Amino acid sequence: MTGAAVTTANPPVRRLADWSADRLHDLADEHGTPLYVVDVERVRENAARLRESFPEAAIDYAVKANARKPVLGAIAAAGFGAECASAGEVVRACEAGFSEIRYTAVNPPARDLDRVVEVADEHEITITVGALDTLDALAERDWSGEIYVRVNPGVGAGHHEKVRTGADPKFGIPIDRAAAAVRDADERGFAVEGLHAHAGSGILDTEDLAAHRALVKRMSELADEIANMGIDLDAVSVGGGFGVPYHDTEAPLDVDALARATREAFSADAQLGIEPGRYLVADAGVLLAAVTTVKPTPETTVIGVDAGMTTLARPALYDSFHEIRSLATTAEDRETIAATVAGPVCESGDVLGRDRELPAPERGDRLAVGNAGAYGYEMASTYNSRPRPAVVALDGDRSELCVRRETIADLGGLER
Ligand code: LLP
Repeated sequence: MTGAAVTTANPPVRRLADWSADRLHDLADEHGTPLYVVDVERVRENAARLRESFPEAAIDYAVKANARKPVLGAIAAAGFGAECASAGEVVRACEAGFSEIRYTAVNPPARDLDRVVEVADEHEITITVGALDTLDALAERDWSGEIYVRVNPGVGAGHHEKVRTGADPKFGIPIDRAAAAVRDADERGFAVEGLHAHAGSGILDTEDLAAHRALVKRMSELADEIANMGIDLDAVSVGGGFGVPYHDTEAPLDVDALARATREAFSADAQLGIEPGRYLVADAGVLLAAVTTVKPTPETTVIGVDAGMTTLARPALYDSFHEIRSLATTAEDRETIAATVAGPVCESGDVLGRDRELPAPERGDRLAVGNAGAYGYEMASTYNSRPRPAVVALDGDRSELCVRRETIADLGGLER
């Protein structure tokens, strides 16, 4: 996993154009569409690159980005820990073989706490607490294990207001009350191992990087204050959020530069922790869809496809941009048209891409949607009673169905 050989064969980004159209076409033939494809080898490459840039850090993978088994297995094998957002993720991380598991409790439902505390009997689990109230809830369960205190650093960053957590009162204990919260937790018998903060998701531009640096600096100062109170912290996690380029024209994040900037701002006498999700998996995945309808209109050509907001929620939820590519074998010979690629749901937000330049489509063509490895399948829903897609995992020449396609019969399976 280390050494120059990996670096040279490990480009900082895999673009949608880098995927083999033939292979994707074959996978769509074999498994049908819509289909998520995730390349486990690329996940390993991303993990190796990140480790090279942050050799000294504790890296915990944010499981929510992609919790499919081969992905979790590869990241656990890379020696990373797991940052989990729910009891379900904690259980899946344990099953995948992660040895370091942290549960980040955001307004934790009682059922989650019950389960996590139960799992913590068997596995070492650290709980990140973002409210004093959560300490009470843990004490009520006679649990006084290792905790991190989540701090609201008062500075946020990210690709959309809906994912900027850093300055949102929902998350963490306000930074000027955090030292007192740590003392309180310590006096109540919890083992305060670390501090945690997360600015937001999709840190890519200069402004976001400045916010990240400010967060790291504030957290370091807080750690000093806590050390002066006589409480030794093992770690300070400065969160995840490392962005990826969704547009082909965007440059990838310079992780080495990010690591340098983080190190410069980090002065705590504790191990640096980071918890990336998207960075490890986004460009390892694509979504394949089939063209079902071609409709010229005065405004644009509408390309109807069998994937939409229930398959990939990001465009509808955050107006996110994902590159779209035609996999048609004759694509190069076709004229280029302006098109809107839309799903089968009766909502105007159910659009995967607007104003795209694409080869004139034909019904039955396959399209690939890029950077679908992060927050893709994970956020799929069964809205409209539409079964969720299948997921195929690639590893070198091998491919394996990792989640079977849901069926209409499955949808009724929970009803009484
Ligand atoms: N740590 C914590 C506490 C988080 O809440 C998150 C993400 C991460 C780490 C990882 O962030 P990442 O490195 O993946 O940016 N569904 C949205 C993203 C929501 C992220 C929520 N928290 C999207 O599709 O853009």
